[in-house]
Amino acid sequence: MTRFLVLGANGQLGTELQHALQDFGHVTSYGRAACDLSDPDSIHTAIQNAHPDVVLNAAAYTAVDRAESEPDLAMRVNGEAPGILAEQAKTHNALLIHYSTDYVFDGTKSEPWVEEDPTQPLNVYGATKLAGERNIQQVGGAFFIFRTSWIFSPRGNNFLLTMLRLGQEREELRIVNDQRGAPTSALALAIATRRILEKTPKNQLNKLAGIYHMSCAGETTWCGFAQAIFQKSRAERPWASIIGIPSSEYPAPAPRPANSVLSNSKLSEVFEVKLPDWESALETSLRRLDLNTLPSV
Ligand SMILES: NC(=O)c1ccc[n+]([C@@H]2O[C@H](COP(=O)([O-])OP(=O)(O)OC[C@H]3O[C@@H](n4cnc5c(N)ncnc54)[C@H](OP(=O)(O)O)[C@@H]3O)[C@@H](O)[C@H]2O)c1
Repeated sequence: MTRFLVLGANGQLGTELQHALQDFGHVTSYGRAACDLSDPDSIHTAIQNAHPDVVLNAAAYTAVDRAESEPDLAMRVNGEAPGILAEQAKTHNALLIHYSTDYVFDGTKSEPWVEEDPTQPLNVYGATKLAGERNIQQVGGAFFIFRTSWIFSPRGNNFLLTMLRLGQEREELRIVNDQRGAPTSALALAIATRRILEKTPKNQLNKLAGIYHMSCAGETTWCGFAQAIFQKSRAERPWASIIGIPSSEYPAPAPRPANSVLSNSKLSEVFEVKLPDWESALETSLRRLDLNTLPSV
């Protein structure tokens, strides 16, 4: 039976990975208390205790704006820890599955980004995630790095839940309409990851190792995403009206790329795996949410 170790067990993706893999092998799930990625000793101990065949790293320093003022911690967690995980995985003959971000790109391309496009992060978070990718690649061995974008799920900190809350609290919301991306559900990522594991024979792992883009199909802006959330939500609520604004009117500590839509062609060619379009993934998440439990104002 395959032994899976899921790191970041309490995050959006970590939660979905645990569910998606539970009848596929033996799943050990560690949150920050059991495996702190800022502490190399904690990583070594976690791998030794779990002795996994597959390590799935869904843990990361994901506070994009806060990373600007905590670059050292963000680099330890997002940059250095993935390299240590890769070394440990190689030593234990395990596969490392790691998740990275669309924010490794600078957003200047008008078409969707492919894996070979030059990286140039605009913010500290993106730079630390890129360092993590490079450290894994340097170690080599069996690894998949799945770059994804704009993750949402029925739990955790994400744009979907923030909009459902603010949409009730406020009469008007001003949302950025000049950043393009693909909202991607944690559920779709977890299912796609499982399919890839199911389809890939062990003797192909080293050959197929590399970076793959993995996001929901389609694209929108944050403003379009917010509009779809209110339109598709079945709750009979007077939602806030939405006004689209340029990024320049919403200053944030970390600059974001104008276009971070990822091309998923490589994923579909190599593994024949496709994620749903972001709107149907959103509908699925809304169905899974009990909107009656949201605070009303
Ligand atoms: N969220 C997005 O929009 C997005 C977009 C592109 C790529 N990604 C990437 O996708 C992956 C999954 O993201 P997500 O949205 O599921 O993230 P998330 O919901 O923020 O979860 C991240 C998890 O990492 C844990 N963590 C933070 N620092 C840690 C540390 N020092 N040691 C161990 N665990 C630590 C957090 O633990 P606590 O619960 O204790 O805080 C949290 O449970 C990450 O690699 C992220 O960089 C995310």
